[in-house]
Parts: sequence; structure tokens; C-alpha cells
Amino acid sequence: MDANGAVPVLELKGVSKSFGAVVALRNADLTLHAGSIHAVVGENGAGKSTLVKIMAGLYQRDTGTFEMDGKPVHFRTTAEAKAAGIAVIYQEPTLFPDLSVTENVFMGRQPVGRFGRIDKGLMRTEVAGLMDRLGVRIDPDRPADGLSIADQQIIEIAKAISLDARVLIMDEPTAALSGVEVERLFAVARSLRDEGRALMFISHRFDEVFALCDTVTVMRDGAYISTAAIADTSVPEIVRLMVGRDVNELFPKIEAEIGRPLLEVSGLSMPGVFREISFSVRSGEIVALAGLVGAGRSEVARAVFGVDPYEQGSVVLDGTPLPPHNPAAAMKAGLALVPEDRRKQGLVIDASVATNITDAIRPTLTRFGLITARAENVEAQVWARKLEVKTASLDAVAGTLSGGNQQKVVLAKWLAANPRVLIIDEPTRGIDVGTKSEVHRMMSELAGMGLAILMISSELPEVLGMADRVLVMHEGRITADLPRSEATPETVMFAATHTSEEVA
Ligand SMILES: Nc1ncnc2c1ncn2[C@@H]1O[C@H](COP(=O)(O)OP(=O)(O)OP(=O)(O)O)[C@@H](O)[C@H]1O
Ligand SMILES: [Mg+2]
Repeated sequence: MDANGAVPVLELKGVSKSFGAVVALRNADLTLHAGSIHAVVGENGAGKSTLVKIMAGLYQRDTGTFEMDGKPVHFRTTAEAKAAGIAVIYQEPTLFPDLSVTENVFMGRQPVGRFGRIDKGLMRTEVAGLMDRLGVRIDPDRPADGLSIADQQIIEIAKAISLDARVLIMDEPTAALSGVEVERLFAVARSLRDEGRALMFISHRFDEVFALCDTVTVMRDGAYISTAAIADTSVPEIVRLMVGRDVNELFPKIEAEIGRPLLEVSGLSMPGVFREISFSVRSGEIVALAGLVGAGRSEVARAVFGVDPYEQGSVVLDGTPLPPHNPAAAMKAGLALVPEDRRKQGLVIDASVATNITDAIRPTLTRFGLITARAENVEAQVWARKLEVKTASLDAVAGTLSGGNQQKVVLAKWLAANPRVLIIDEPTRGIDVGTKSEVHRMMSELAGMGLAILMISSELPEVLGMADRVLVMHEGRITADLPRSEATPETVMFAATHTSEEVA
């Protein structure tokens, strides 16, 4: 029982978990109450997702106690945790690409109608209702394959909500969502709270923590640090508890000398995806590509880099036209793309951290056709340090790193490639507050060295804080090209939600 005399829905005490020599959790505590939204914050690798996976029955704790409604529980499987009323939205989407949206939502628990048959109609109606509630239009019959990460995340959320669980755990559910979608998710979360459910919310975005949650627990290095009522704390205090020092969330922008255009995109069109995209990025310049999720920003980036084709237009790198649909040629010419879906597109999950970091510069590390392990390690070490990648060793398998640290590895890989033009899709998604300002500082430094940087970002403070110029996209078109002096939350949001005629 707690001070208010209420028995917590869920209580973990002194929980520890090690993976070989890596201690992921040491003496972690967490108490969740009915009718509350409880935030858990901490740096990348602090142990947040490990705690979630123990509650979900995916991992077994080494020590400690776990109670629900005051009674000890021990989940050996995820099915047992589900049966006890715990639903989880995992940090990495877990959808089956070949199954339909509906089949994914009902994975492992198809409702059975009369005569013991799976009731497909009932399933589809329920999924349509959930999509309505979440305010999105996703065809329940389409396969999960090819959905954007935002849509995949929405389906994860629908899946968790449809379980009608008493405890809903959300591990960075908003990382891939834009403002409107985040608001919808929050409305659903609040209504679940008001129904008396217990919610847990993990996020690196403090504005969200303060907007949604009533309580916050801070973790550091696998250990419990403190719990406070949101009303009694502040962002600087939380950051200090998380990192152990003061950090500015946004690194102040460094003015760089702007030179000649290094990336020139003219009239790029791909029917149904984007249309007449023209812009240039000059040496020393950071240009932001802003807009809502689904506006076509990542698609433009992929076409410019050559992973996807385009039908019309041209891409010129420092005066030399790039052949379309040819990422190898783009890379050779000095273009790098840090993709949005880093886990799928940027990381070799089964390879070591060192191999991943040096993946793009492999040819330069070979001597007589052999990659020397030493050269690989030296280079990897440099970047792992710069980005503060938290790993037991450089030989650790990338898949065992925390979500945010996997992101850092992919970032390191492309920075190590020493590009002249860097396209970076959501540079700080899932990255903790301390490293975030480090990534901003590095981008500023790279621009100072004469790189041209195109940054796609859904975070307005990042866009307004970092960019020399802001391009805004809406429904596949560029609706505004704003110099830094004219870029404000209002001008960017207006262009992001209106057509070019309305903006002009
Ligand atoms: N299966 C595993 N094998 C080995 N080490 C692991 C495994 N899972 C987690 N770890 C380690 O446990 C530590 C905590 O990781 P965890 O994923 O819980 O961090 P997190 O707080 O969720 O971070 P992030 O904000 O980056 O998502 C990390 O050092 C990670 O490398
Ligand atoms: Mg995590």
C-alpha cells in the first residue's frame, strides 16, 4: 500500500537483470497506479526497455519482486503477462510484414464466431473502429509490409488498445509520429486513464512527458533514481537527475560560411509520391525539410540518394549530375543518407558494433584486399566515443544495444564515410537529451567544415534551432522556402497544412 492507502496495480522492487557481463538493471523500482500515466525517463541504455520486457514476460528478472494488486506474479511468457492484463507497445515495431493489418492486430488471439470459425468480419469491424478512434485511415486488409514507421506504430498502438488491458505500457510510442498523431494518441491515453487503467509512458521528449503524465520516474545506469509528481518537478531538474549534470537541450547554432551549391535538385517528380521538387543546399548550409508525417519528405530523400526511382527531374552533386536510382554512384560522389528507419535500413543487427560503424568505409580500410581488424577497431573507436555509444565492447552484436544506441551506431557509420553532402532523416529521434545536443553540435561543426546538410525533422524546436533555411512540404509538394529569419512555429505549421496556392 502507498501513502494514499491505494494498492498499486503493479509494483516492482529491487529488480536486477544481467546479460552475461552487462548489467542492464540493478535494483530498479517502479510502482504503477490505476488512473495514472507514469513517465519513465533516462538516457539511452538506462534500462527502460529492459524493465518493460520484464513486465511483458519477454525477459526473466534475476532478482527482485514483482506484484500485481499486491500479489506476487512471475510471467514466464508474454502470453502470461497478456492474460494478466498487461499490454505493451514495444520500441521496435513487431509486425509481421506478410500478414494484413487486421491479422496483425489480432495476432495470436483470433476471435472465434459461431461454429468455431475465425470471425473475419468481426475482426475487420473492430480494427476499422480502432483506426477511427486513432483518427487514421489505414486499410485493414492491406499487408503490413510497406507501411511507414508512423503507420506501423499506429498499428502497434491499436493492437495494444484492442487487448483492453488494465496496464498499458508504451515504449517511445511517439518517436515516429507527428504532432497531430501524437495529439490523437494522447487523447486515447487520457481516456484510458480516466477509465481507471494504469499507463506507463517512455519518451525522450520532455514536452510530451509534461503534457501527458502525472508522475515521473528517473532511471540512470540501470538503477532507480527518483520518482516525483510532474507538478512538483521541472525539465532542468529531470535532466540533471538523468544525466548527472546540466545540459542544454538544444545546442546553440554556429554560424558557418555559406558557399556554392553542393546539392541541386530540379523538378523531381514521382507520380503519387511527390511533384516538382526543386531546391538546393549550399556548402556550409543546414537546410531543414519540415512537414507532417506522410508529406513525402523521406520519399524525396530516398529518391535524391537513389534508393528509390523518380520519373522526372535531376539531381546534381557539386556540378555533376547523378544517375537516377543508383545509390552506389551517389555514395561515390560524396552523398550520404542517414535513413529514418535505422533498424531496418541502416543497421546489420547480427554484426558487431565495429563492423556496423565501418560498413560504409570498408574499401578505404582494406590493405591488399583484406580489412585489418585493427583499422576497423581504431576507426570504430573514434566514432563510438564521439557519439557516446553505450556498449559493453565494440565486438558486441549491434542488436543487443538499446534502441537509442543502435541509432547512434547508424549515425556513426555515415559520419565516418566523410560525405560532402549529408541527408539526415530525423537526426535525433530516440536519442537522449545529452547526446541530442552532441548530435546538433556535430551537425553544426560539419556545416562549418563546408558540408551541405539536408535535415528532415518533425521536431519544430530542432528545425527552428538548427536550420539556415526551412523547406516545408505538404502532400508531396514544397509549399514554402523560408529563410531562418522568417521561420517561426506559425509559418512552418501553416505551410505544412496548406497547399502551395494557399501559402503563396
Ligand atoms: N538482449 C540483450 N543482450 C545484451 N545486452 C542487452 C540486451 N538487452 C539490453 N541490453 C543492454 O542493457 C542495457 C539497457 O538497455 P535498454 O534497452 O533497457 O535501454 P533503454 O533505457 O531502453 O535505452 P533507449 O533510450 O536507448 O531505448 C544496455 O546497455 C543494453 O546494451
Ligand atoms: Mg529503449
